Amino acid sequence: MGLWSRKSVAVLQREAAAEGEHGLNRTLSATNLMLLGIGAIIGAGIFVLTGNAAAQYAGPGVVLSMVAAGLACGFAGLCYAEFASMIPIAGSAYTYGYATLGELVAWIIGWDLMLEYLFGAATVAVGWSGNFVKFLAEFNIVIPTQWTDAPISVDALNNFSRTGATLNIPAMVLVALMTVILVIGIKESARFNNVIVFVKIAIIFLVIGFGFMYVNTANWHPFIPPNTGHFGEFGWSGVLRGAGVIFFAYIGFDAVSTAAQEARNPQRDMPIGILGSLGVCTVLYILMALVMTGMVHYTKLNDPAPILVAIQAAGSSLSWLRYAVEIGSLAGLASVVLVMLMGQPRVFFSMANDGLLPPIFGKVHPKFKTPYITTILTGTIAAIVAGLFPIGLLGQLVSIGTLLAFVIVCAGVWILRVRSPEIPRAFKTPLVPLVPILGILSCLGLMAGLPKDTWLRLVIWLVLGFVIYFAYSKSHSHIGRGATDHHVG
Ligand code: ALA
Repeated sequence: MGLWSRKSVAVLQREAAAEGEHGLNRTLSATNLMLLGIGAIIGAGIFVLTGNAAAQYAGPGVVLSMVAAGLACGFAGLCYAEFASMIPIAGSAYTYGYATLGELVAWIIGWDLMLEYLFGAATVAVGWSGNFVKFLAEFNIVIPTQWTDAPISVDALNNFSRTGATLNIPAMVLVALMTVILVIGIKESARFNNVIVFVKIAIIFLVIGFGFMYVNTANWHPFIPPNTGHFGEFGWSGVLRGAGVIFFAYIGFDAVSTAAQEARNPQRDMPIGILGSLGVCTVLYILMALVMTGMVHYTKLNDPAPILVAIQAAGSSLSWLRYAVEIGSLAGLASVVLVMLMGQPRVFFSMANDGLLPPIFGKVHPKFKTPYITTILTGTIAAIVAGLFPIGLLGQLVSIGTLLAFVIVCAGVWILRVRSPEIPRAFKTPLVPLVPILGILSCLGLMAGLPKDTWLRLVIWLVLGFVIYFAYSKSHSHIGRGATDHHVG
């Protein structure tokens, strides 16, 4: 009893079906869900990290890093799709954990998802701020760095120091604006997201289409530059390290599953939203990496705006694309922040409905039908984090937290297949247990490539979570108090 109590799938399905009771608005179509996924996925990863990964680790082989990271996400995505169609509850991985591995593990995933959604939103907001400040500077509008940089920096040896700056104000303002849209309504948020996604996809198509004409195939030779003698610096180990970095670019497809209680037909549409957005982005990413490393030698791509570097290499004939790319990346990063800030409150909402967080976290606005208190709380914390910390520190925490959630979801699908094979599944992950096992191994492999300090921060974060669980959640859990049907593991 207690720590290992599970919520039965039947109870979860009843909760998911209980229209009106939870109060969220069921308005999202399959297209909306897919666009939400693309909104969350395409962002800092493709606009910034691809260039770094090519220049520092993989060369043109970054294309293979893209394929490898895409495969790992594909395995996880297939597992998410089964769960999201079977248990369409806003808690996503947290809820799947509750159904399979028990309350303590569920709590850990819920707590861990903060690293993905809340910290993810903050990370990308910091990236947005950097691009925005640069964009303004092109028009001679200069904001003093005191108000655009993080006051805290961390060096490669993990030493924290003060930078002299006060706060990253543009990042905080972006988070605040996205929070306001999210409070107003899920439909309004989805509409806003649809427009932005259209802009960013159009711009990516333009870059791929026009860029291909300027590819110099000599830049692709050697496709995998020889290893320098250090693990991770080119060669196959560089491709692997590149995959660990590029993984960040794929994060977000799973955020679709947090909109399950706002989907019109979640059983059918969740898999479409999750796998559709992942598939579209994987293809775009691979093409984009091919074009970028073909237009310019990979050694030149270590720049905060690598796509611009590639365009500039094509000479004046592509200079008209410059502003389009700049606006596209600003829009792109904003929608990532929006969807990440959408996911977090919905996980909190589910945790509050189960009693693991105070009831106020489950409050829905009477008019807007959004979980407004948690949305505002999430926005406030994300704004503070974005205002204070540098992007490198945040990005790796987001990756490790997300990978941990993926590992648990893959394991959960397999466990539930063994334990309850009879439950109808609108979407079935193919080749179980092979696909979940490959998902677990590939995500663990990517985690293994992350620095020790990032692991340490993950452990500290989880220990903090344990403290809260034992101090509050365990004694308030509805299952713990016998309020709902449950299994005892
Ligand atoms: N995948 C998202 C990005 O690249 C998090 O910004």
